[in-house]
Amino acid sequence: MLVSLKEICIEAGKKGWAVPQININNLEWTKAVLEKCEELHSPVILGVSEGAAKYMGGFSVVANLAKSLHDSLKINVPVVIHLDHGTYEGSKKALEAGFTSIMFDGSSYPIDQNIAYTKEIVALCHQKNVSVEAEVGAIGGEEDGVTGNGEVADPKECAILAGLGIDILAAGIGNIHGRYPANWKGLNFETLAKIKAITHNIPLVLHGGSGIPEDQIKKAIGLGVAKINVNTECQLAFAQETRKYILEGKDLDGKGFDPRKLLAPGVAGIKKVVEEKVLMFGSNNRY
Ligand code: 13P
Repeated sequence: MLVSLKEICIEAGKKGWAVPQININNLEWTKAVLEKCEELHSPVILGVSEGAAKYMGGFSVVANLAKSLHDSLKINVPVVIHLDHGTYEGSKKALEAGFTSIMFDGSSYPIDQNIAYTKEIVALCHQKNVSVEAEVGAIGGEEDGVTGNGEVADPKECAILAGLGIDILAAGIGNIHGRYPANWKGLNFETLAKIKAITHNIPLVLHGGSGIPEDQIKKAIGLGVAKINVNTECQLAFAQETRKYILEGKDLDGKGFDPRKLLAPGVAGIKKVVEEKVLMFGSNNRY
């Protein structure tokens, strides 16, 4: 079932679990994520950054790939094709290409500009029943050129954005994309609670889901986080398993160079991470 993220995230928020957003990079990635989530009866949001879409050949390639795999693999769990950290122009292009959900990331703009662009994107997307995620208070780390410094969002700005008709809100609460540094202070739960209290009950998103300890994930879900994004951990697992295969000389053994064999351990690595996250977020056995 291809859907927007609206209903599943509202449902998750009410019942105290979170929908996983797993970012994808190619056919193997997409297939691995869909198969594992179907097996676990978990809804899934396929996250696609503009950089990943460019790498795969464009927004329509991604949308068609995800739709075709969804159909051919007979996936029954809800699947969302979601633009991750979209620019103003990119958001409009992904919408045209058939994405079922758009994140417009205006966090690098002054708040007034972020508000104006977000409103416009909401109007365009809602005409097509496509959901919108907005962001305020940049998420730390580096993701496809959108940078931030581990900012903590201003709850008042969060309330303004939440009032624009968006479906879900991403707000910086000390979370960081990529690997967490050893001296990371952890999530700022005080700010998260303040944001939740004044954002009209819309579900919240936690970016930078890789490497956040389970107790902090659970606490964040308890405070209103209904969607958690994971990218780096899948990339690390894929690289680690592929590296092991090659270092063990398996690519030199018989037909071990066949991409279907060469990429299999990496795919298994992605599936293992997805399973861990689904169980941690409590999204299994929901559909
Ligand atoms: P990680 O790469 O840290 O898991 O973050 C993913 C993310 O937030 C995508 O928007």
